[in-house]
Amino acid sequence: MTATTLVILGASGDLTQRLLMPALFRLHLLGLTPELRIVGYAKEAWTREHFERHIQKALQAFAVDYTPAQWNRFRRQLDYVGGELQADELAALKDKLSPSSMFYLALPPPLFGVAATALGEAGFSKSPRGGWRRLVVEKPFGTDLESARALREQMHAYWEEEQILRIDHFLGKETTQNLMVFRFANRFLEPLWNTQHIAQVQITYAETLGVEQRAAYYDKAGALRDMLQNHLMQLFSLAAMEPPSSWDAEVLRDHKVEVLRSVIPITSRTVDEHAVRGQYRAGKLGRKKLIGYRSEPGIKRGSNTETFAALRLEVDNWRWHGVPFYLRSGKRLATNYSEIAVQFREVPGPIPHAVHAGNNWMIFRIRPVERMDLLVTAKQPGVKLAGRPVTLTAPYATPDDREFSAYEQLLLDALGGDRSNFLRFDEVEWAWRVLTPVLEAWEKGTPDFYASGSEGPATQARLLDPDHQWRSIAR
Ligand code: BG6
Repeated sequence: MTATTLVILGASGDLTQRLLMPALFRLHLLGLTPELRIVGYAKEAWTREHFERHIQKALQAFAVDYTPAQWNRFRRQLDYVGGELQADELAALKDKLSPSSMFYLALPPPLFGVAATALGEAGFSKSPRGGWRRLVVEKPFGTDLESARALREQMHAYWEEEQILRIDHFLGKETTQNLMVFRFANRFLEPLWNTQHIAQVQITYAETLGVEQRAAYYDKAGALRDMLQNHLMQLFSLAAMEPPSSWDAEVLRDHKVEVLRSVIPITSRTVDEHAVRGQYRAGKLGRKKLIGYRSEPGIKRGSNTETFAALRLEVDNWRWHGVPFYLRSGKRLATNYSEIAVQFREVPGPIPHAVHAGNNWMIFRIRPVERMDLLVTAKQPGVKLAGRPVTLTAPYATPDDREFSAYEQLLLDALGGDRSNFLRFDEVEWAWRVLTPVLEAWEKGTPDFYASGSEGPATQARLLDPDHQWRSIAR
């Protein structure tokens, strides 16, 4: 990599400490960013030394491979400038930039537009000869369709679409990327990957965490905006997309958008058939007593924000006609469990009852461990001809593999200019379009309540076809 500068706006904040700096530190340890200069920018009037101490503490707490010797090498890459998000104050960054420079907005979402404009006014969006300028934006991109479009307009005043890298950290996860590799690099799967052979797809992201310290953000966002609109819609489009003609970023993203465009629109009248929301009440996780969402510090009294959301989506194309895709995510559930589970249709038979041990499932597990399971039927040893379910399991990584965290992967992609794992605006826009009727309907009424430590509201079952069941997360 040639000399590059990464400016982090919001360098005193939580994201920088917990995720960005540990990722940058590891990339440095692996020798993958030898000529990267990292400039922190935040409103605090800190000296460079103060910033270094701040980052050192963060790395001691959050970096797995922290050693004083490595820190001494890494710290030389760091610099700091204090100032507001205004062009005249950002101008102080001018001398710190390289011809190739990237600006990372690690800021609260309401400041994304302000920061993009101020950087543009300071003249930083124009790529100099022989170099480039890029802007990395965290999620959420807007809070609904209208605000996402307004934010795009604001950013496009100075930045070209190709310069903007919208982060969805799920696209940096190993299992997410494996979904594409496994689907398209194996001969046996693709001929079966359609309505002829697949009965249903379930995408689950269950967390035991509650709202934690994020009440101000979360109470306005809710599970649909926080997890479904971005992360789960991405997993859904990767599971459902057509095989791309090339693995070029634009082609991949065209194919993902096509899935979103093919979703049968949910209307104000069909919201209840397609969406269920829940909110956690007090409950127990193991022996630990947990308070309800409405009693959490910082949550508005009587808040109706959903902490659980489930969707039923149907894709209206030849491949998927008649196959429901069920997506759900919730906080304070029984376990940290996440998977993409694909159920195959029954064998056509005839097959003796004793031999049939259930439909096949292909499962991409994300948590607690990354692994792939194929549920099949095999003969039960013995004189009787009987079948039993067997799981063919492949661990995703072996001890010799070097895995990258989502942020390590995405920072490396962004610095290298690979846009495949970032969201193009039309992906964001279509995800909002699909969900707008749900968001509007949920402005009124109350969510269905579920006990903390449970599997979510019982009402989630109403989304399923009569012969389908949600897979249990308590495993
Ligand atoms: C974030 C959400 O984007 O993703 C959080 O805002 C959620 O609410 C998190 O907990 C889950 O991702 P991960 O990678 O931490 O499991």
